[in-house]
Amino acid sequence: MVLLRTEHAEGDPDDGGIAHQTVRWPIPCHTVLTFHDPPSFPCGVVSLLPGTLLNGCAGTYRVVRALDKGGMGEIFVGRDLAGGREVAIKLQTARMFETTGEYGDYGGDLSQEFNRMRDILDVRGIPRVLDEGKVGRSGRRFLVMELVNGVTAAQWIEDNLPVPRAAAVSVIAQLCEILGRLHAKQYVHCDVTARNVMIQCDGSVRLLDVGISVPVGEAQPDPCGSPGYAPPEQHRGSELTPQVDVFSLGALLFQMLTGKLPYDGVEYPFDGTEQPFPGGLRAEIDKDLRALGLSMVSLDPLERPRAADELPEYLRRMLPAPGTCALPNATVPDPTAYYRHGLGEL
Ligand SMILES: Nc1ncnc2c1ncn2[C@@H]1O[C@H](COP(=O)(O)OP(=O)(O)OP(=O)(O)O)[C@@H](O)[C@H]1O
Ligand SMILES: [Mg+2]
Repeated sequence: MVLLRTEHAEGDPDDGGIAHQTVRWPIPCHTVLTFHDPPSFPCGVVSLLPGTLLNGCAGTYRVVRALDKGGMGEIFVGRDLAGGREVAIKLQTARMFETTGEYGDYGGDLSQEFNRMRDILDVRGIPRVLDEGKVGRSGRRFLVMELVNGVTAAQWIEDNLPVPRAAAVSVIAQLCEILGRLHAKQYVHCDVTARNVMIQCDGSVRLLDVGISVPVGEAQPDPCGSPGYAPPEQHRGSELTPQVDVFSLGALLFQMLTGKLPYDGVEYPFDGTEQPFPGGLRAEIDKDLRALGLSMVSLDPLERPRAADELPEYLRRMLPAPGTCALPNATVPDPTAYYRHGLGEL
């Protein structure tokens, strides 16, 4: 049993109308709690019920169902009451032990994410941000974006491991196209991971979490990115360049082919002498793809293929040709379809 602080209905108006009460969790069945917002429950329990209405700045959204949980909050499928279309709603994690100020600061991160996504609107392959808002009086923020109909690359890899070569190359090539558009807007994504990539039913790839992108050439005071996918310069506070994303793409490529990230188990920060796959790389990967992957995860950014020209050039040679049929080992969904149907831009 844990003790929790919850928001209470008759709060102090100076604290945003919120008072705090310590209760036990699980809540004894005779306890009645009153909430002035839709109920918030801790750890792993979905905090908004289907049917809840959320008022954004540009529209109203009805919660349809919970979709996933991330580091910043929970993701729901919602319906835009004006247009009728389904949307994705990213909702700040419920307030638990934070002070009002701390909680507001975390919400500020989501708001910053919204502003950055607005800067990056209309990049093909990146879901558009549509709206933002706050839930009730707690100031819990949410943002509304286009819903991606598909599976995360993390789930797809788990279902198809080891991913066939043509499918793996098609995912990396589609991401390379999307990142090329993002880099052209002078942003580095900085967090390309299997959970931030989705594959739609038609095989086209979408890149999530662009709201945390960093302007090219900017240094981050705090380490950013995800362990295993982030290159050393992201942990050193160096200026960030598109080569950061090339490293993460290389890590993702190996994850698809082998189920392992190349620096799995290596402690951050890197000291520059580490080797990828210290325990050996036993998977059967053909020579060209293996050489490309290993160069992408070089610790020195200058040894990685350049994002703008070299990487697309190498990948182009490995892609399925337009007009060809799916291979017998095609995955579902099948990212090679994008190139086989002639939609690629590399
Ligand atoms: N627009 C969307 N359409 C469909 N699903 C989405 C969308 N955005 C996010 N998701 C789902 O929610 C998960 C978490 O989303 P997101 O990456 O934006 O949040 P996060 O807080 O950054 O999480 P993490 O720390 O895991 O990256 C995704 O892995 C995906 O499953
Ligand atoms: Mg994410």
